[in-house]
Amino acid sequence: MTVESNIGNTKFLDRNPPSLPIEEIKQIALDLYGLSGEFKPLESERDQNYHIQTRSGDNYVFKLSNEAEDPGVIGFQIQALMHIKQQDPTLRVPRVLKTKKGTLAGMVKKPDSKQHIVHVLSYLPGIILDDAEQTPALWRNKGRYIARLDNTFRGFFHPNARHELIWDITLCASLKPHTIHIPDTTARQNIAGIFDHMAKEVIPILRTLRHQVIHNDADLMNTLTDPNQQDRIVGILDFGDMIYAPLILELVVAADLVDVHADDYIRLLTNLVAGFDSVLPLEEEEIDLIYDLLLARYGILGTIIAWRRAMRPDQPAYLQEEEEPCWNTISSLMSIGRSNMTDALRRSCCFPPYCPVNKETEISDDTESLIKRRHEVLGSELTLFYTNPVHVERGRGPWLYDADGRAYLDCYNNVPVLGHCHPHVVKAVSRQLAALNLNTRYIYRNILDYAERIVSGMPDNLSVCVFVNSGSEANDIALRMARFTTGERGAIVMEDAYHGITEAIDDLSTYEKEKEDLAPYVSTLIPPNPYRGIYRYGEQNLPDRYATDTDRAIEELSKNGYKPAAFMIDTAFISNGIPDVPEGYLAAVTERIQAAGGLIIADEVQAGFGRSGSHMWGFMDHGIVPDFVTMGKPVGNGYPLGIVVTSPAILNAFVKETELFSTFGGNPVACAAGMAVLDVIENENLISNACVTGEYLRRGIRSLMSRHTIIGDVRGKGMIAGVELVRDRKTLEPASTETDRLLDLLREDGVFVGSEGPPYFNILKIRPPMIFKPEHADILIDALDRSLEAL
Ligand SMILES: Cc1ncc(COP(=O)(O)O)c(C=O)c1O
Repeated sequence: MTVESNIGNTKFLDRNPPSLPIEEIKQIALDLYGLSGEFKPLESERDQNYHIQTRSGDNYVFKLSNEAEDPGVIGFQIQALMHIKQQDPTLRVPRVLKTKKGTLAGMVKKPDSKQHIVHVLSYLPGIILDDAEQTPALWRNKGRYIARLDNTFRGFFHPNARHELIWDITLCASLKPHTIHIPDTTARQNIAGIFDHMAKEVIPILRTLRHQVIHNDADLMNTLTDPNQQDRIVGILDFGDMIYAPLILELVVAADLVDVHADDYIRLLTNLVAGFDSVLPLEEEEIDLIYDLLLARYGILGTIIAWRRAMRPDQPAYLQEEEEPCWNTISSLMSIGRSNMTDALRRSCCFPPYCPVNKETEISDDTESLIKRRHEVLGSELTLFYTNPVHVERGRGPWLYDADGRAYLDCYNNVPVLGHCHPHVVKAVSRQLAALNLNTRYIYRNILDYAERIVSGMPDNLSVCVFVNSGSEANDIALRMARFTTGERGAIVMEDAYHGITEAIDDLSTYEKEKEDLAPYVSTLIPPNPYRGIYRYGEQNLPDRYATDTDRAIEELSKNGYKPAAFMIDTAFISNGIPDVPEGYLAAVTERIQAAGGLIIADEVQAGFGRSGSHMWGFMDHGIVPDFVTMGKPVGNGYPLGIVVTSPAILNAFVKETELFSTFGGNPVACAAGMAVLDVIENENLISNACVTGEYLRRGIRSLMSRHTIIGDVRGKGMIAGVELVRDRKTLEPASTETDRLLDLLREDGVFVGSEGPPYFNILKIRPPMIFKPEHADILIDALDRSLEAL
């Protein structure tokens, strides 16, 4: 609901508090409520208010509204107080006293036909926040208290809730013409700029945020603390500015600090916001607007003070003493800056750092200083991608955003198989984390639901799961089980295989290792690479010619005194440069391994979950049935989770002997993440999308080959593509330095791609999320075209 603003109209400047003689007020109180006693005036912007203490010691607030006050709006306030009493009886707000006739308010008619509504509220004891020491604990409690109040308002509405109010931040832009009355040039320009920014950038977003009835005036004067325990909030007063508005405005108005040192401002504000968030969780978008809304709030204050002075010199200089502090606060906020303040607010509510999306005006942290800190606390040898490393703060779908808000198309990272931060996974993880998280020594249901889903569709022998936390762990356990089952130690893997980081698996990770450095129980196979390998496209019987190398490897192990316990294979052959593996090759290899007594471990860390675009698991593309399937990376779309699937006979014998247990493996949160990944793959038909979009992508890249002779080969399956770069298509001289440079150029162009294929690393490794669409592929193809041109 939006309101056309009339607040440019000077009638909104009239405070008009009535000024009936005290004797008349006393008579009204007696006639309507039967109240008498001591009357002390209370300050009010628009009403004539008194604190009444009766002879019996009861305390009340008597309110006589100004003649222009809409009775509907007073009715709204009274109903709100009644609603709070019903919803949260221990929340201390004034209670409405009924008249002698039993009504909630009375009416006074003057002979000049002016009418004033009268209502009486209970008087809340306590000291106003303005008189208390401003401590973080007090502000945190204040945040909690007003969140409680807003929780009671969630189910409340009233026809007069959306009334017009000069203090309504959503209408601030209509005040801009009146900034001319601000005497100080800098303050005037600042405030006019704030209103422009609000109209253009902030209000459109604010309209999309959740709205409800809010108090809208929980400032230092209207919040009470306990005189004996000043951190404790004991009441909220003055419901006269209540309104239906974006919820976040409640906090902005409550952050009523002027002329406070910047550090204290941030400290108190973050406590207020975090306190609120702990009772009524805030949304990221709400927090990101607080900085601008605070500026707008001070802008309104500065404008109203100046405008009133200019237009109503006859009225007392209400709020005048706040004018200069208000300007100073605006300057101080501006010197803190949106990024710093929003970062601090986000941190206080456990949101990730601030990273505005596509806002070129924001300046990021100095990347150099982050690299220095990284070296200090993470060691100096940790790999960083790119000559000009990227400081990434946020991801969404196929996009990553750097700290300046620049978007990069992520065609490299294969963990977020559904795209970064997929909302279904985020929800599943956070909701499960809020419900239960423990280990597999208790019964809980989602691990069973999930395990059943993982094994459904697998060959019959693969029907039980072991849950761990990474691909390395999954491979480690599978290898242990293979060794336990066969009683042998030997292992066969591809040359330049990568399977993980545990000590046992590092032995099998032959990536960039010299043959003579391998353990005697490890033997490697020549990769089946028909583009650059020893047998090439066009030659006869490629699968068998490559597969016969298995006999040599088994023989080699035997010479060292070992028999194969396992053959571990990445079914996508990623670290071998994503070759187009000749059909039937893997079946021919596994036959030989099995004949020698070895078990087959299909490492699906790269290929699994439908990335190849035809089957859920890579081993199915190769027509083999392994003894173990291991999974990692994409299983939880970023939530750590590894799985081994095997047969009950193998697993039960092994666990009986070893009492295998992983503390975090298969915890309910991990299972919720895994389950959510399967939901999305199924519901959004991602396997078929991987097939269609992957083919589209490769076709597009191939279309560049006529203009860019450096592209030697384009290959891959589904959402995995390899693009081999060569200096000469005949000699296949690898274009290694060019590949490195190309990755940097693509990064500068806003696209992330990796390289692969030791020892030359001249192959572009492209593994976008499976939600990738042709329009994303077009962005990659165009960027590749431009970057190749610029090489
Ligand atoms: C094929 C393959 N297996 C296993 C792993 C190890 O997985 P993690 O890093 O989760 O331990 C990787 C990691 O890159 C991999 O590519």
